[in-house]
Amino acid sequence: MAAGSRFLRVNGEDRKVTAPAHRTLLEVLREDLDLTGTKHGCELGECGACTVLVDDEPYLSCITLAAEVEGRAITTIEGIARADGTPHPLQVAFADLGGAQCGYCTPGMIMSSLVLLKTNPSPSDDEIRAGLAGNVCRCGCYPKILQAVRDAAEQMRLERARASRGRRASSKGAARGAHVRRSR
Ligand code: FES
Ligand code: FES
Repeated sequence: MAAGSRFLRVNGEDRKVTAPAHRTLLEVLREDLDLTGTKHGCELGECGACTVLVDDEPYLSCITLAAEVEGRAITTIEGIARADGTPHPLQVAFADLGGAQCGYCTPGMIMSSLVLLKTNPSPSDDEIRAGLAGNVCRCGCYPKILQAVRDAAEQMRLERARASRGRRASSKGAARGAHVRRSR
């Protein structure tokens, strides 16, 4: 393999990139892989615009070297849609509730919100503020962002409740089927 060549696992796919030791993950994502949803803000680790997930943990891609995350699962905003291609509830809520004005902070806000809602499915407003404390919105959309995260959290709880009802119904159906088969 050529010097600096490495494989990054991005949004479930292995991607071969040329990333000498000094190249940041943000540079590789945007410039080599054309994943421009991850935004280039301060480049100092202070604004959160470049947030991605690495093994489900938030990372500031502007201060993370691509070489550091080789072989780990990297998720960008382009990789969070549902398997059927529909947008994630956070994407829907930010768009519908005006949580994105210029939109520059939005991918980072959504990635940080994903982490928050994974560990805390029903966050209070203060918990949402704390979870997004590392993400800056220069348009000052904070009240709408708060509302969008609250709304998405509710949608996600409803989705989980529906999925669990579906699983219960299908396991009851399977149990009834087994009974019918035994009764023959
Ligand atoms: S661009 Fe990475 S924290 Fe601002
Ligand atoms: S919507 Fe413009 S920076 Fe947040």
